[in-house]
Amino acid sequence: MGRLVVEGKQRIEGCLQVQGAKNLVLPILCACLLVDGAVRIDNCPEISDVEETVRMLRMMGANVVREKTAITCDTGGARAEFLPDEMTKSNRMSILLMGAMLTRFGKGEIAYPGGCRIGKRPIDLHEEIFRRFGAELSAEDDRMVGVLAKGKGCGVHLPFPSVGATENAILCACLAEGETQITGAAREPEVEGLCDFLNACGAQIHGQGTSVIHICGVKQLHGTEYEISGDRIVAGTYLTAAAITGGECEIAGIFPGHLSGYLDALAQLGCGMHLRKHSIYLKAPERLQADMHWKTEPYPGLPTDLQPMLAAACTLAKGNARIEERIFEERFDAVRMMQRFGAAVEIVPPFIQIKGQKSLHGAEVVGRDLRGTAGLLVLALAAEGKSTIFGASVLKRGYENIVGDLRELGCGDITEQPE
Ligand code: UD1
Repeated sequence: MGRLVVEGKQRIEGCLQVQGAKNLVLPILCACLLVDGAVRIDNCPEISDVEETVRMLRMMGANVVREKTAITCDTGGARAEFLPDEMTKSNRMSILLMGAMLTRFGKGEIAYPGGCRIGKRPIDLHEEIFRRFGAELSAEDDRMVGVLAKGKGCGVHLPFPSVGATENAILCACLAEGETQITGAAREPEVEGLCDFLNACGAQIHGQGTSVIHICGVKQLHGTEYEISGDRIVAGTYLTAAAITGGECEIAGIFPGHLSGYLDALAQLGCGMHLRKHSIYLKAPERLQADMHWKTEPYPGLPTDLQPMLAAACTLAKGNARIEERIFEERFDAVRMMQRFGAAVEIVPPFIQIKGQKSLHGAEVVGRDLRGTAGLLVLALAAEGKSTIFGASVLKRGYENIVGDLRELGCGDITEQPE
């Protein structure tokens, strides 16, 4: 997928089973380094972020086999291996691999990690956590080098509920000597899922899903089978596509409670919804209404990953909307790009002001980050006329088959072309 050519004025209508959650499978793959024995993970999405993490595990000597959506991972033969900089730089997961490497091998080394360009994305909290467990860290040629003789349980307080930092503290704690208490922990469903997975492997973790997590270190973790839950951000993307195109759809394989912060916003936009245990049905009104002020927040608030989708919906809604981006200070690229469709968007960080328009025209735009590009695609479906989205391959980081999914949902007029 290089660029996408999208015909406008399409309408979402249909049902879809959503793919497994990217942000859960990635930390679980890193956690496999801590497990003695084989782990089978079901419902793994086929996305490039997963493939890259698998590649890093294989480079360390892990035996990883993928059969369709199942991944079997046995890290018995793994060793502390030098991972090429271009790998660890381009993938945020390298910072979690670092925590797992320190615990498993007593040492680790990575190039400072990158990921989507949506803000500075410092790793100070991760470094602080490694040190709390007893690691010695140094910076050598733009690489983080760490040594940890034997992790010691400790108290970790997070001044901000960072998802990745919470996950790193959990990885460091479950095989450490003694007890660890994490306060100010992230409460995201993916953090809870990681803990449930580790507990299935024999870890002793309590309080996941709350801001205080208590972990008693154990000597060893054993293999298990685990199924990845549905991806709430992908589900939110398709629900927004239905909302903005005046459509209706049912997204299955998702627990609606995991998306409550965003479902509230969709309801405020005027969408009707019916929630079942594992699915969400949405019907859009004739025109969305957006005289609202929203802000992105840690779970269970409005997820920052869905900010570009919400902004896209507001550009065509009746009224003036304001969205405050409180998680990533530079996550405005896609919204800025929406101006090319004729959207009336003003950005005064951390605020996005949007005056909804009756209609927008097709445009040529460039996608630079995963969720922002999905927001542009959603908007292109609702604009009038043809749009071209360059840089669309970034979507492969998190969407298994977004074009096929939208086709299944009734939007067949999207073609993939080489860049
Ligand atoms: C995870 C998700 C990402 C989501 C984000 C926030 C994965 C693979 N990615 O990213 O999709 O957008 O949570 O819900 O799960 N921070 C620091 N210092 C640190 C670490 C973080 O200041 O050491 C700040 C970040 O700059 C940001 C905020 O904390 O402003 C939230 O980041 P964090 O929750 O850590 O995001 P990720 O775990 O990277």
